[in-house]
Amino acid sequence: MERLVNLNISINHQELHTISTPCLVLGVFEEKKLSDMATQIDRHTDHEITKLLDHGDLNGSIGRSLMIYHPRNIQAKRILLVGCGKEADLNETKFIKIIRHMTEMLSNHGIQEAACGLLSLNLKNRDARIKSRLIIQAIANENYRFAEFKSKPDTHFHPLQNLTLMTSHGNTAELNLAQQGISEGEIIAEATSKTRRLGNLPSNICTPRYLSEQALTIAKAHTGRVHAKIYGEKELTDMGMHCLLAVGKGSEEESQLIVLKYEGADQSIAPHVIIGKGVTFDSGGLCIKPRQNMSDMKMDMCGAASVLSTFEAAVKLNLKINLIAIVPAVENMPDGNAFQPGNIVKSHQGLFVEIVDTDAEGRVILADAISHATQFKPQSILTTATLTGAIITALGHHLTGLFTNDQKLADHVVQAGLTAHDGVWQMPLNELYQEQINSSVADIANLGKDGANSITAAAFLSRFVKDIPWVHLDIAGTAMSSHGATGRPVPLLIQYLIDLAK
Ligand code: BES
Ligand code: MN
Ligand code: ZN
Repeated sequence: MERLVNLNISINHQELHTISTPCLVLGVFEEKKLSDMATQIDRHTDHEITKLLDHGDLNGSIGRSLMIYHPRNIQAKRILLVGCGKEADLNETKFIKIIRHMTEMLSNHGIQEAACGLLSLNLKNRDARIKSRLIIQAIANENYRFAEFKSKPDTHFHPLQNLTLMTSHGNTAELNLAQQGISEGEIIAEATSKTRRLGNLPSNICTPRYLSEQALTIAKAHTGRVHAKIYGEKELTDMGMHCLLAVGKGSEEESQLIVLKYEGADQSIAPHVIIGKGVTFDSGGLCIKPRQNMSDMKMDMCGAASVLSTFEAAVKLNLKINLIAIVPAVENMPDGNAFQPGNIVKSHQGLFVEIVDTDAEGRVILADAISHATQFKPQSILTTATLTGAIITALGHHLTGLFTNDQKLADHVVQAGLTAHDGVWQMPLNELYQEQINSSVADIANLGKDGANSITAAAFLSRFVKDIPWVHLDIAGTAMSSHGATGRPVPLLIQYLIDLAK
């Protein structure tokens, strides 16, 4: 597979006026305040920037910018001044908006090579490592296109290809941090774009087998360091994975359980497990969904996609942990063979599950995947899934819902979300909610009574995790948007693993 992010980044700490580039990008704040790097260039250009601001050509607000052609006395051919808002208000969300605006402006002007003076903007508690990561991720996200089924390429789209990040002249500490951030940022951006692509692929292409092939490709690219094991329906039957099999029964596509292993630490150290829901299309099954936006359910495997890409990123980063990625991959369809409301299925773990609703399928396949994970005696399990529409009602598309049985692990994940600017919000999970999934005919029901749908879904999963420290991320709102797959929570997951490896 070719690279999805075609962006070459380098660092330069030359004096700004000596850098020869088609375009030098500089930040200006509101109230005619120049960033430090803009001040330097202003001095060299006989205050060209100050004069423009005095004339009112640019007010410094975010989303505005101004191109200066043939600036005096410096090597750069153009200067792109970008508004950075009020200096005191600058934060990560605004920083990302600024970078995305810069990216859009450069590509609108067909400028594919530029030098960027925005790394030195001050962000509270964020060093050059985190800032350069954010820059790469924002550019990659802005320039991402899902265009592989467009017969004719978009001849008007000329994305940025070479970017030089300017660090302060002579500041080697900043230079080193930026270097580290760039290598990490490239891996995170690539993993995010891969996740977006898999999410956006239609379900006639991205089938359970297709996901298996992705896992095998990852294993092949890292032969000797990564081991892949794919279980098909015959093996799953022998293993007693009847929950996973039940959901896939109505589909022509063969259900799969994908397991990837990476040993980055001593064999004696217990592994961490990440599990992602891989429903390649969720029609709802016999409890069929309404036709509006049903096509969005091709993205019901975003958890799986983010887990596969994160796993690969962990390998590329050589993280010193033992990691296992597990993906239960199925298609949920109505059919003469489909599982039915009222069915009772025996889970791999032994609990009998009453299928109240065939559209609450994610938790059913995850149950068997979790139970498979417990056999590895892991230190931790993280599940991520586009599990419930209710999490969108609760948190919208901004924050991922977090559920846990272990507050220490949860705090760790919340912190990783803050570091990676890929936020989560902890939701409650206590024994009162457990009662809502009691079944009158089996051990447990796959649908909770009396509301709190996202919480009862998590409560269902918790029954299979037992005492292992576990965090569950409901990404139905954050992994999917009106523009398609977002690639979240890949930045969070990679940060989580980086922190675990410390
Ligand atoms: N995949 C859906 C959840 C979902 C809904 C993701 C909307 C993204 C956008 C899940 O399998 C599902 O159908 N959940 C139902 C559960 C209900 C039957 C209890 C839901 O949330 O409506
Ligand atoms: Mn469903
Ligand atoms: Zn689903």
